[in-house]
Formats: sequence, structure tokens, C-alpha cells
Amino acid sequence: MLQRSNIVSPEEELQEFYGQLRAQHVTPAWISGGVSTEPKSKAVPYVWHWRDLRPQAMRAAELVGTEQAERRVLRLHNPELEGSSASNTLVANIQIVMPGEIARAHRHSPSALRFIIEGQGGYTVVNGARIPMSPGDLVLTPKWTWHDHANDTDAPMIWLDGLDSPLVRMLEAGFYEQYGEEAQPVGEGADPSLAKYGVGGLRPAWEPAPAARYSPLWHYPLSQARAALERLAAEGAGSPFDGVILEYTNPATGGPVMPTIACYIQVLQPGEHTQAHRRVCCANYHVIEGSGYSLVGGRELDWEDKDVFTVPTWTFHEHVNTGDRPAFLFSFTDAPVMKALDLYREEAKG
Ligand SMILES: [Fe+2]
Repeated sequence: MLQRSNIVSPEEELQEFYGQLRAQHVTPAWISGGVSTEPKSKAVPYVWHWRDLRPQAMRAAELVGTEQAERRVLRLHNPELEGSSASNTLVANIQIVMPGEIARAHRHSPSALRFIIEGQGGYTVVNGARIPMSPGDLVLTPKWTWHDHANDTDAPMIWLDGLDSPLVRMLEAGFYEQYGEEAQPVGEGADPSLAKYGVGGLRPAWEPAPAARYSPLWHYPLSQARAALERLAAEGAGSPFDGVILEYTNPATGGPVMPTIACYIQVLQPGEHTQAHRRVCCANYHVIEGSGYSLVGGRELDWEDKDVFTVPTWTFHEHVNTGDRPAFLFSFTDAPVMKALDLYREEAKG
């Protein structure tokens, strides 16, 4: 009969063997820790408060110019992660561009999103298309698209940057290139991607269907998303785990806006307390407006307008709106990566 073998060796002999292996850059798998039965993130649930972030962004703008800093960015780093990122695969950073400033044109293989927090006007140029930026708008600068930022207003422009740079770094797939000029020439149209793709269900018929894996729409105004949420909320629609939640989609495919990042906007009604669930993806949240808290892996993260918080992968979370107005949350996750690799799961608590 076949059975598991029971060989017992003296510790001294084992240690000598392991020493030889180490010298040969070989590791015995049986001494390097047990098998884990489910994901356990090194990242912890955490909230960064706007009341702390904004003064430091303004201070950075006093101390450092955009000639010195390619991008004037404050990285929100998870207290338990070694790198400077809010979550395992996705950064959540605060970028500030002051009146009269530009952040020069470049491109890179990490995909990026901008969610505008403060400042009216100002713009990002993506592959020659000028995109105006207003609070609550989502602007995409997908991988390898040229992008530069400019603030031609008289007030600071501040936004949340979301990038998959930790993932790209881990995959050792990062490229970066500087544009020849400080800024790209701006093409025709006030907001061309929105004009062409900003109405659901319609696309320009004189152009071929977009072939890129990222969305051809690079500007998702808050006004459109908010109106859609309010229509659905009035009908009592929504999820027990997230209230009324909408995914920003690639209008050409119906899929996520970029191959590695999915973006969402949701509304929680006053007094709403969602049910807990967990998913195989990390998520960073930005509070567009509202106040409340989220219970994330047993931690209570209190939030209010413009705060940022992070929910590590496979961590139960539920949201509570304690205010007297609807709470609007923006979030972005690496779920498309997990789904592409067939690693995605989700589970309700209890
Ligand atoms: Fe960039």
C-alpha cells in the first residue's frame, strides 16, 4: 500500500543540507512557511482626512515647483506596505497644480485616472485632446497616452491620482517617455472624447470602432453620473452591499474603463447601512461629499467630504451614511486584473 513516508533526520544534518542549498541559491519549500487558505493582505484599512491633506498639498505648492517635481504629488502610503502606495496594486495620490503652472507632457505604461477634488477650469491634454476638469469629474490618461496638465485659472487645482504603478512595477513592465516639448499642441474641439463618446449608446460612425483596450472616452463629468444615480435612487434600485452603484464603462465594450482599473460611483442615502461583503480586489475610495463611516476588517474608518480611504483585498467592509444628506463615493479597484486572470471572487458576510 502506498503511504506518506516518515523520514526523520538529525537537525544538524538538515541544517548542513539547508546551508548547502542556500549557497546554491536554492530554498527548500517545506521550511518557508505554511500554505495560506485565503488571501491575507499586507495592507491595512486606512483613511486619510482631507483636513490633513489639503494644507500639506498647499505647503508642497509653496515649497516645490513643477520644474523640480515632474509631478507635484503627495503619495498616500498604506501604513503596513513597504512601497509608497495606498493599496497593493494601486496608488491613490494627491496632485496639486497652482495657477499659471503646467506639469509637462510625458507618457508611461502605468494607466492613470484623475478624480478632480478642487478647482474649476484647468485642464489635462490627453493625446492632443484638451479635457476640462471640474470637481467630481473623472479624467482618464490611459497607458502610454501623452498627457500634460495645466492650470489657467486663479485658484489651485487639486485632484486624486489613481495609477496601477505598483502592479506594473511588480510585473517589471514599466516604460516611461518624455514628450519633446513642455506641452502638447492642443487639437480641435472643446472636449473631443466627450463629444464623440459621452452619450451612452452612440458612437461616431465615420471612424472605425475603437480598437484600444482602454476607453475612448476620457472625461466622465460628475453631472452625468450624479443624474444617473439620482434617477436610479428615486426608483429604489441598488445593491444591498453598495447602495446605488454605477461602474464607469468603456463605451466601446461595456467593460472597465482601463484593462487594470475599474471605477465606480455610488450614493448612500441618509441612514443607509450596507451589508458587509468582501472581494478579491483592492479598492481605494474618495468621498465626493457626505459623512459617515465604513467598517473595514473590524476597523471603523470615519469619513467626510474629500477624504480618501482604502479597503484591502478580501476584507469585509460595510458603509454607513450618518449624515443628513446623500453620500457620494468614488472608488477604483484592480478587479479587472483579477477577473482577467480568473482570480476574482466575492462573498457576503454571514
Ligand atoms: Fe503621468
